[in-house]
Amino acid sequence: MRGQSSEQRTPIVGTPELMAIQGCMKRFGGLLAVDQVSFEVRQGEAIGLIGPNGAGKSTTFNLITGVDTPTSGDIVFKQQNVTRQPLHKRSAMGMARTFQIVRLFSGLTVLENVMLGFHPQLVDGFLSSLLRFRRVVADERRCAKRAMELLEFVGLAQRAHDLISHLPHGQQRLVEIARALASEPGILLLDEPAAGLNDQETAGLGRMLRQLNDGGLTILIVEHDIGFIMGLCHRIVVLDHGAKIAEGDAASIQSNPKVIEAYLGTGGAHAKN
Ligand SMILES: Nc1ncnc2c1ncn2[C@@H]1O[C@H](COP(=O)(O)OP(=O)(O)OP(=O)(O)O)[C@@H](O)[C@H]1O
Ligand SMILES: [Mg+2]
Repeated sequence: MRGQSSEQRTPIVGTPELMAIQGCMKRFGGLLAVDQVSFEVRQGEAIGLIGPNGAGKSTTFNLITGVDTPTSGDIVFKQQNVTRQPLHKRSAMGMARTFQIVRLFSGLTVLENVMLGFHPQLVDGFLSSLLRFRRVVADERRCAKRAMELLEFVGLAQRAHDLISHLPHGQQRLVEIARALASEPGILLLDEPAAGLNDQETAGLGRMLRQLNDGGLTILIVEHDIGFIMGLCHRIVVLDHGAKIAEGDAASIQSNPKVIEAYLGTGGAHAKN
């Protein structure tokens, strides 16, 4: 397994609930992609969502982030039912995400891409000035300063003025994370952040996410790389054929017969595991 850390994390107890996935179901025609999935995310936790190919991880992730709505069931965030709230409302409430496939604006610089992550109210003004005048106003200057700090955090300040398309994939992933952090989210949601990264990049990403989580940021992460998840997450939720088959800390998940069978039963599930 890649990115595996010998140190596993002890569960967080006693912090308030930040998010709850309540009996969520998602049907695509005759296919039940998500089948009565429920779990909670507590403030400050790092939660991993794992499972073999086609288990329903990305679909669940999409229900949480608002890309899709469940056929039944609810998503509660900060005590509000957000099941039918659109994506932008959820992001304004403090959900920030990255995508399974990096989505950045290829015609913009690294810094500009990070600046697009600022609060929607600022982004409107920023976007119009960027696209129409390329003029820097006070808010934007503040954004640029903060964006530089975020680039320093992810180790890419020296590439700030390069076009994003000139960066290798691993670095683009880090820019995407910096952009997600720009909105100062209450929760960071990541769909396969280690996909396409080499071992060194994966280890660096793991350290960075751990540092963010240690600083209090709640993280929910979908990842094929189980070793990566085990070293980062307090708690792991395992899906198989759309249903939750296990939930617990890394040690209990690793020794859970249902989990072992789900992975072995699909031929190891994924080349990376
Ligand atoms: N838009 C859709 N329309 C029809 N079927 C879909 C759609 N999205 C996902 N599915 C199906 O739902 C099931 C769950 O898919 P999902 O992408 O959530 O799995 P996953 O756990 O993220 O898989 P992977 O590990 O391959 O990323 C799969 O059988 C998939 O083919
Ligand atoms: Mg997926």
